[in-house]
Amino acid sequence: MNQESAVSGKSTTTGRGYTFAPRMAKTPKSFIREILKVTERPEIISFAGGLPSPALIDVNGIRIAANSVLEQDGRSALQYSTTEGYLPLRQFIADRYKKRLGISVSPDDILITNGSQQCLDLIGKILIGTGDHIAIERPGYLGAIQAFSQYEPEFHTVPLMEDGPDIVSLNLTCRTHPVRLFYGVPNSQNPSGITYSEKRRKDVADVMKEHGVLFVEDDAYGELNFSGKSLPSMQTFLPGQTIITGSFSKILAPGMRMGWVVAPHEIMEQLVVAKQASDLHSNYLSQRIAYEYLLHNDIDSHIRKIRAAYEHQRDVMLRMIEEEFPETVTSTHPLGGMFIWVTLPPGCSSMEVFEQALKENVAVLPGIPFYVDGGGTDTMRLNFSNSTDENIITGMGRLARVIRRMSSS
Ligand SMILES: Cc1ncc(COP(=O)(O)O)c(C=O)c1O
Repeated sequence: MNQESAVSGKSTTTGRGYTFAPRMAKTPKSFIREILKVTERPEIISFAGGLPSPALIDVNGIRIAANSVLEQDGRSALQYSTTEGYLPLRQFIADRYKKRLGISVSPDDILITNGSQQCLDLIGKILIGTGDHIAIERPGYLGAIQAFSQYEPEFHTVPLMEDGPDIVSLNLTCRTHPVRLFYGVPNSQNPSGITYSEKRRKDVADVMKEHGVLFVEDDAYGELNFSGKSLPSMQTFLPGQTIITGSFSKILAPGMRMGWVVAPHEIMEQLVVAKQASDLHSNYLSQRIAYEYLLHNDIDSHIRKIRAAYEHQRDVMLRMIEEEFPETVTSTHPLGGMFIWVTLPPGCSSMEVFEQALKENVAVLPGIPFYVDGGGTDTMRLNFSNSTDENIITGMGRLARVIRRMSSS
């Protein structure tokens, strides 16, 4: 990053003379993508990425749905469509909110997006101006840091405790700054795996109400609570002040790039305009295929399979941490999702663990990029959804040896 232009707000000029807008200097390159480039070699056991298990993508079911859409209504499915998205799909999502979380959402409150990542960009586009104050969790989802950075906000971070954001810190932040929104991932957060307790959700909602702050509830992992029981959406405690983002990436297939945003009417109007300006509408063929698949397959049973598999993989990884890692290592015990968050022994750097582990053909993700205001050098994120039992056992065994070696030296 060109620090100077990031501070001065000037455009950046590269060696070749291309001049870029100041916002680009303020946007961190996705560290994950950089790391994934290194970890693509087939001999590497990678806990660094965040991919769902390939075994749990129903390729055959999606193939049948795609064939059916193309055979029965191909010309329409390959046409331009509306910005808001395919109405039956939005109705399906609305019905699922009622069934799963007991909240009433109309299809008109839903906009289909190109993955839920696009929601973050659109939210930034309509709500964040240069220098506006926004709050995020610490550690925070890297993709949100990247998306919001494009709109040059002033970030404030709120530490995550075992059961959600630190309320004292959140309160203080909202009292001392004109915070426009607080972005959080209440279910199985990326990167920490932390889930807000019900009490914490209510407390956060109270702070939002008191200070008139919007809560952006990123629910990418809401369907992956291993117990199968859902905690209430923030919308339950904060109607009219919550924007929810959702995704089919973790329950269908991320390559379909299907997500959505639920927002109050006035916010939705702006989101639709911003979306139109960005890409007219989300991939209509993908929307039609997703709906066809959901109509003819038992998605609940598919999700139960995903939950059971990931719960098992989490257990294998946690057991390895407990049995093989030094006692001075601590980790979260996620109730769902795809990640465990590890804090290393004092003085042990996760960047160094990353480098040493790579020599043993194991990749981890250092926690540093999840901290927009620095810190986190002793933390790392481990993904368990994308590895077999055998790879978890082998990879974690090697990682344990690296950490033991480094913490004893
Ligand atoms: C918390 C969170 N939000 C949003 C996303 C974006 O997902 P997608 O764009 O595939 O819906 C991810 C992806 O891993 C995520 O972890």
